[in-house]
Amino acid sequence: MSTHSIVLVPGDGIGPEVSAAVQSVFEAAEAPVSWITRYAGVSAMTEVGSVLPEETVETIQEHGVALKGPCTTPVGKGFTSVNVTLRKRLDLYAACRPVRNLGGVETRYKDVDIVVVRENTEGLYAGIENEVTPGVVTSIKVVTERATHRIARWAFEYARAHGRKTVTCMHKANIMKMGDGLFIRCAREIDKEYPDIQYNELIIDAGCMRLVQDPTKFDVLLLSNLYGDVLSDLCAGFVGGLGVTPGANFGEKCAMFEAVHGSAPDIAGKGVANPLAFIMSSVMMLNHLAETRNDPRCKATADKIKGAYNRALEDGQKTRDLGGELNTEGFVKALIERM
Ligand code: NAI
Repeated sequence: MSTHSIVLVPGDGIGPEVSAAVQSVFEAAEAPVSWITRYAGVSAMTEVGSVLPEETVETIQEHGVALKGPCTTPVGKGFTSVNVTLRKRLDLYAACRPVRNLGGVETRYKDVDIVVVRENTEGLYAGIENEVTPGVVTSIKVVTERATHRIARWAFEYARAHGRKTVTCMHKANIMKMGDGLFIRCAREIDKEYPDIQYNELIIDAGCMRLVQDPTKFDVLLLSNLYGDVLSDLCAGFVGGLGVTPGANFGEKCAMFEAVHGSAPDIAGKGVANPLAFIMSSVMMLNHLAETRNDPRCKATADKIKGAYNRALEDGQKTRDLGGELNTEGFVKALIERM
């Protein structure tokens, strides 16, 4: 049986634990995938002496698809985020994070079905910071027409392809008149090409309030890099938290799938992480393979895994972050039993 070569980057903290969970699930599902393991993050520093070995980048470029665990980034000092560098190096300009309620996971809100589309390559993540003089620092926000047009087009294309009705752009162009001003100007230009999709704008502070009041009013969100990062976690909170929010990063040549959550150092090594967000990301990956490589086996495997985790949750088989009692291994076992 032919298989798709996928680069697996386990990452740091709970990354190796949730990666092992996906590998067990894929093996049980007989997924047509073979893994090529490469390292990134603090673990790569230990294994191969660099937080982002060139070999990791090149292997992803060669094979085109990666499943990546979270990588730790030191706060306020130290090396540049491996996640941000990887997204830039591979030009993975569009982050796509679907946020939906799952049966069996009780939350404050029902019927949430939002897709966060985040620009992934510039904005305040450009990493241009200067100490002008001791005690004075500038962080530069980079907004380009090229990157904004392409992320806006990606959001509208996604909306059209997935039968979505509305794209809402959140911004702060009342204050950042030039930077966010350019962002919304570009989004408006792209909107003209999609008369079938409704386009709305909200100033982000008011937008956050509206989101929290009633997230069911929102559909696709179009956001620059930092706003997309913050709102991804906010939206995750609507549906049960970071344990149930998958994600994908798309570029012209590569796609890299990763959960929204980080390396969760507070629970790393304890075997209690919820592997579901990473499993859901791997299901997104299988669907991507099905579409781009025209392989119906990948779609069938994705459906099989999705059906099994939905049944497990509905049967009350949940990890502790969702109010259950299972550890990582227990949830994987419950999922596989229902496959
Ligand atoms: P985090 O997402 O790692 O953790 C936030 C909270 O959610 C923690 O209490 C954690 O235990 C919990 N949590 C996260 N994932 C979970 C899971 N699967 N199951 C159960 N509970 C889970 O965010 P934090 O603590 O801000 O960041 C930790 C590290 O991860 C930092 O170094 C950060 O830079 C990095 N990070 C990496 C990302 C990536 O690789 N894409 C994304 C976000 C953060």
